[in-house]
Amino acid sequence: MFRLAAGTAAMLAILTTPQVVMGNSGSLNVVCSAEQPWCDLMATAFEKETGVDVAMVRKSTGETLAQVRAESENPKIDVWWGGTGDPHLIAAAEGLSQPSGVDTGELLGWARNMAEISEGSAIGIYAGALGIAYNREVLEEKGLTPPSCWADLADVSYAGEIQVANPNSSGTAYTELATFVQLFGEDKAYEMLHEIGKNVNQYTKSGSAPSKAAARGETGISIGFMHDMVTLASSGFPLEIVAPCEGTGYEVGAVSVIAGAKNPENAVKWVEFALDAGVQSRAVEVGQFQVPSNGNATVAPESPDLASIKLIDYDFATYGSGDTRARLLSRWDADVKDAEKN
Ligand code: G6P
Repeated sequence: MFRLAAGTAAMLAILTTPQVVMGNSGSLNVVCSAEQPWCDLMATAFEKETGVDVAMVRKSTGETLAQVRAESENPKIDVWWGGTGDPHLIAAAEGLSQPSGVDTGELLGWARNMAEISEGSAIGIYAGALGIAYNREVLEEKGLTPPSCWADLADVSYAGEIQVANPNSSGTAYTELATFVQLFGEDKAYEMLHEIGKNVNQYTKSGSAPSKAAARGETGISIGFMHDMVTLASSGFPLEIVAPCEGTGYEVGAVSVIAGAKNPENAVKWVEFALDAGVQSRAVEVGQFQVPSNGNATVAPESPDLASIKLIDYDFATYGSGDTRARLLSRWDADVKDAEKN
């Protein structure tokens, strides 16, 4: 039998495998916790503008915090872009991210506030409010009255009809948990989440999955960010969006440079790029409707108008602290998830 010597085989493999040619500008590893189409647009546009090779993966916010913690000795991520602000603030407080030193002068107050709390390590890139969506065809078919308040979601008529994410993995669902605690007080919040839990058919990993399921008619009702619901409703799905009557919380999405990043200069370039008004205005090209943090960026007409929604004064310093999050999540596991249908 004809056999190649090991060395020859390796040589042939080198000659026949296409080699990745790195641009002179180096590379950048990004974890993106916003929606995939926007992650893709950002990576492509950044590569085009800077010549930097971007390697990007999409991960939910809580999952990314877990990865950043696990890799603290040898970080694989250079920059974390998107996702709810609380876990970004926790990463900053734990020394897992570092200040990028970029100019935040054009940013709105809520975005600069995030930078101030984190001493420059987490900077606000967008904002969006939490809400309820329902599929009008599913509810009509089943003869169900649409909800208008958070409290309505505990109604027995919605058994098996509600989908929401798991706050351990999803920043969206953690925002919901923290919002309930701020709106109703801790004990009442868990009581309500427990009752609503009896109607929940699935706790998903990612925050936008429940509204996608509602859009497709796989569940009647979802909890999530209103801008994700707008994306689906404006593409023609029979989704109605509700600003809950008791008021609601909101996220400030953030960008952070990871401490000990292997490509720190390119990471800072990314942050500058992500805060640019022209770049933020491009979100609409891929159907993303958060409110941009740069005051000079264009706000899409479809973006939920935060001024007309009853918003709580979300306490980012408290709910973006590692101790508070750990305590709220373990109580959620015990009182809501593990006690699911009791
Ligand atoms: C969606 C929203 C973002 C949000 C993110 C959080 O992508 O468009 O505004 O920051 O969800 O994702 P997660 O999966 O952590 O809930």
